[in-house]
Amino acid sequence: MQGKAAMFLRSDPRLYESRRKLEQQAKHVLGFASAKGGVGKTTLAVLAALHLARMRFRVGLLDLDLTNPCTHLLLGVEPRLDLVGEEAGISPPKIAGIEYMTIAFFTGGKPLPLRGSEATSAILEILAATNWGQLDVLVIDFPPGIKDEILDLSMIGGDNVKIVVVTTPSKLSVEAAKRLIDVARSEKLSILGLVENMADKPGLGKELARQQRIEYLGHIPWDPDLEQSFGRPEKLVEGKAGKAMREVTERLVKLLEG
Ligand SMILES: Nc1ncnc2c1ncn2[C@@H]1O[C@H](COP(=O)(O)OP(=O)(O)OP(=O)(O)O)[C@@H](O)[C@H]1O
Ligand SMILES: [Mg+2]
Repeated sequence: MQGKAAMFLRSDPRLYESRRKLEQQAKHVLGFASAKGGVGKTTLAVLAALHLARMRFRVGLLDLDLTNPCTHLLLGVEPRLDLVGEEAGISPPKIAGIEYMTIAFFTGGKPLPLRGSEATSAILEILAATNWGQLDVLVIDFPPGIKDEILDLSMIGGDNVKIVVVTTPSKLSVEAAKRLIDVARSEKLSILGLVENMADKPGLGKELARQQRIEYLGHIPWDPDLEQSFGRPEKLVEGKAGKAMREVTERLVKLLEG
């Protein structure tokens, strides 16, 4: 990251604490990102975290969608502040085997409109204060776009931060994914791979991965019953999308460990 924003961030002492936390408390940090909204980042990030927990990895999930945090709806968690412990910082509650943190714990689900520097401040605050313990993987659910949350993380995070690009097979989504890949490359943010969501077979997403020489992690089919499992993690992982995401998660693990 360059320019004024980078200077502002570099002068913030919370930057170093956030970086230290990310580097020391998580072997891998994996952000689910897309330049276009509604492609399934939240759904797939939650499913990946649930599968990682089932595979006995120590896993955390951080909802970094400051405007529309909604991972708690999938996990069936009431966003109450009293769930968060406060021993020298803040401790995430364990939900379905996942160390879980969301901005919604602090806002109670109320809207939180933030300008650029305020968003950065909120991100630093949550990263610097959260005690994850020792995680194998910290999964991050990003908001759509290539703005503050993702740019800030590229600056805050160390070498252990990677992103998973989420797209649907639609031309519009694939075009947006290509832009995200360009930005990630110019920000020197590592891309672990690409997942194609709401795709009954490999489509334009696979083609994009090939063109861009990034790993194609697989496709997740359209799951008509997905919504009915919201709030019930054990049901969520057993559904059509959930099962397909298990294979994608296994590939993620191989790449991370490789
Ligand atoms: N494989 C799937 N099959 C059916 N519905 C899906 C699938 N994946 C996601 N959805 C649905 O699509 C909608 C958008 O998903 P989700 O909220 O996960 O996307 P997002 O990329 O996180 O959105 P945003 O950009 O707003 O954060 C939700 O209603 C979700 O239930
Ligand atoms: Mg989302």
